[in-house]
Amino acid sequence: MNNETSSSFEISSQNKPANPCILVIFGITGDLTKRLLYPSICNLGSNGLLDKNFCIVGVAIEPFTTESFRTQLKKNVNEFIADPAMKKFGLALADHVYYLSGDFSDANLYVNLKNELEKLVLNAAASKNYLFYFAIPPEWVETVATELNNASLLKEKNDYFRRVVIEKPFGHDLASAKQLNKQLLTFLNEDQIFRIDHFLGKETVQNLLTLRFSNGMFEPIWNRLYINQVQITVAETLGVELRGNYYEKTGALRDMIPNHLLQMLSLITMEPPLSFSAKEIHAEKMKVLEAIQLTKQNDVLQNAVRGQYGPGEVNGEKVVGYRSEKNVSPESLVETYAALRLFIDNWRWLHVPFYLRTGKRMSQYATEIIIQYKSGPSHLFTGLNQNVQRNLLKIYIQPDEGISIVFNSKIPGPILRLDQVEMKFKYSDYFGIKPATGYETILYDCMNGEHLLFKQADMVELGWAIVQPFLDVWNSLPPRDFPNYAAGSEGPHDADTLLEKDGRKWIL
Ligand code: BG6
Repeated sequence: MNNETSSSFEISSQNKPANPCILVIFGITGDLTKRLLYPSICNLGSNGLLDKNFCIVGVAIEPFTTESFRTQLKKNVNEFIADPAMKKFGLALADHVYYLSGDFSDANLYVNLKNELEKLVLNAAASKNYLFYFAIPPEWVETVATELNNASLLKEKNDYFRRVVIEKPFGHDLASAKQLNKQLLTFLNEDQIFRIDHFLGKETVQNLLTLRFSNGMFEPIWNRLYINQVQITVAETLGVELRGNYYEKTGALRDMIPNHLLQMLSLITMEPPLSFSAKEIHAEKMKVLEAIQLTKQNDVLQNAVRGQYGPGEVNGEKVVGYRSEKNVSPESLVETYAALRLFIDNWRWLHVPFYLRTGKRMSQYATEIIIQYKSGPSHLFTGLNQNVQRNLLKIYIQPDEGISIVFNSKIPGPILRLDQVEMKFKYSDYFGIKPATGYETILYDCMNGEHLLFKQADMVELGWAIVQPFLDVWNSLPPRDFPNYAAGSEGPHDADTLLEKDGRKWIL
């Protein structure tokens, strides 16, 4: 195997170019490639982080030729990439992109692919390392992997790697995720598989471990003795856009919680790892996820709320309800909002509630983690009729990127009065704003065989195991009140009640 380098953790000119490879993108004509993958490749390339013989083979059903696809790709570059250096690189790289049209279930496609790859290695001095990126709907993953294997494209030999990168959703529930893992592991080793959770590519998510473990002031009070509750919110103003087909089979819970929200939760709650190696971090994340109390079926309704948006107004514009979106059934019972209350049964977190929520068409676009501390001994102020509020540590993941501490302060003046103030660090103030999609680090790490930002089979299955009771109960008890929140609102009323029962409310 090639020499592996450690995770980039950020795009910087000090990094070395990634290991050479040919990137094969299944589904190259899709939205993901256009908006995220190709721009991030251009970002890596314009920062000198790609090998000089790097090239791409795209595979999809659309009847392009290499020439016509290159023309289309150049149009996309002009439309989706603003940064001049990235754009320049993208236009030049387009001439090193090759296109194969075919049906993913046709064995001949893979024979052609093999020939194409061998030709590139001979004629274009391209690397013999192949990275297969599955930018395809989940139902195709097993077929494509099996056909690649049948064409002997997955066997690693003579020090050349064969890796597959798989987008979420990985399976549909616990049973299907187990089945898919089992199938893939019959012809791939675990270290050849890179299961993506693109939230782990976000700088602000990666910074969670730095915040916790490089500072002396947070960790001593990072436990149940000092923390009252933790809230994780991923709120989007967007609806399902053109993804009705996908979303009708998925819903908010499957789409966001076993993956993105649980990954953020694990980074916030894990114990310090022995080192920053993928293995140690994986082990600590697994331990804390295993400690999450599995919700009993009888308790699901007390610990979870689902919702679906109806028509409403978002950012001053009227928008339709979910049931009127393209490719969505007019009677759909699919949830576009989910909120859960979870507990972690371990020494550090016993009895601290973790409230997780995610929703489409909410009033604001914001991903935030809020840690609320317990009150200090505020007896000095009790006689003064002052409202002494609990301290907050807010971690802004997006679109704001930063961290703030919220604490009580005296309002200037002769009378002692208190108010909460916020002390805020913004990434942009310190580090400027760099164009990045989050996929840069992910791709760079795949090329280098670094697994830190990827999920192993056991973690994917554990994510599903945690949400499975909610899926089962929701499936057997169809909702009767959908749509139950207006687009552009704060979500369903029941989600407020979920916290009110605990004497709390959503802070964001
Ligand atoms: C994806 C979900 O994984 O994450 C989408 O499928 C969601 O439904 C998206 O909109 C949110 O990611 P980001 O990076 O846009 O916040």
